[in-house]
Amino acid sequence: MNFKTIAILTSGGDAPGMNAAIRAIVRLAITRGIRVLGVRRGYGGLINKDIFEMSIRTVSEIIERGGTILYTTRSPEFYTEEGAAKAIKNCKDLNIDAVVVLGGEGSIAGSKKLIDNGINCICIPCTIDNDVACSENSIGFDTAVNTATSMIDKIRDTAQAHDRCSVVEVMGKHCGNIALHTGIAVGATAILVPEYEYDFQRDIIDKINFTQTMGKKHFIIIVAEGLKIANKIKKEISNLLGIESRTTILGYVQRGGSPTSLDRILASKMGCYAIELIYNNIYNKVVAIKDSKIIDIDIDIAIKCKRKFDIDTYNRALEISI
Ligand code: F6P
Repeated sequence: MNFKTIAILTSGGDAPGMNAAIRAIVRLAITRGIRVLGVRRGYGGLINKDIFEMSIRTVSEIIERGGTILYTTRSPEFYTEEGAAKAIKNCKDLNIDAVVVLGGEGSIAGSKKLIDNGINCICIPCTIDNDVACSENSIGFDTAVNTATSMIDKIRDTAQAHDRCSVVEVMGKHCGNIALHTGIAVGATAILVPEYEYDFQRDIIDKINFTQTMGKKHFIIIVAEGLKIANKIKKEISNLLGIESRTTILGYVQRGGSPTSLDRILASKMGCYAIELIYNNIYNKVVAIKDSKIIDIDIDIAIKCKRKFDIDTYNRALEISI
């Protein structure tokens, strides 16, 4: 006899490790006597009642898989009054005690629509951008940074062979975390992010000139997607410095692929933590990581947190890439 029913959904951009989190949630919940419903395609699935019963075996062989077995969408319908009302009614009809939402900032903010109408939620930060302000880390970020790093290592081989400059665009519309971390990992000469206003002369031309005086002949410039300037930077470097340059847009390879062990472990810990909360009747929290410890934060506080860009690390990274 189940003493509670929960639903799980994945929403927004997928992130490697979502499946590992789903596995942990389903397995611990069922072990604790909680019935688990899987919702396909995010909040849209709550509206369309695209919902199925999950079992211990539904989540076999998924810990190592990228993407999400529950599929995902960014559901504009959920943000209409009618759509939200349908989702809320379906949760009530199915006697759902809590919805576990796996997603980024937008998906976590979306859960408030359910909470404000009496549907309990627990949110778990999953986004390659690592832009959920209340948590030091999000499921998927480590994998994305590792993927970008290994791709850029290959690009560097050919840039080095030709004495070229490679301008590489990494993901992140509003957030430079992938750019910063990948930039550190590959020793980029310059890292351009939405959070920091760059100066072309100072940050690119002067920097390249300076490193050239120290014998450097090939250069990696990392640009976050949101700036939309990779091609422009490449042309200006070629024209102004006479250095042969190429652009690579890494794109969606960063979002797919098998999660790193760090992401699998984080996902397993966060998934289990979410079930501990539900088991103990604690709701409307975001599971987060602070000082390497898993904690929970009230959703109202969590969505008001402001993300801080790590400018000290940024400056230090550029100081040593000479
Ligand atoms: O999930 C985060 C992210 O990959 C961002 O880095 C990127 O800007 C955006 O999603 C792309 O979203 P879409 O899947 O809608 O193209």
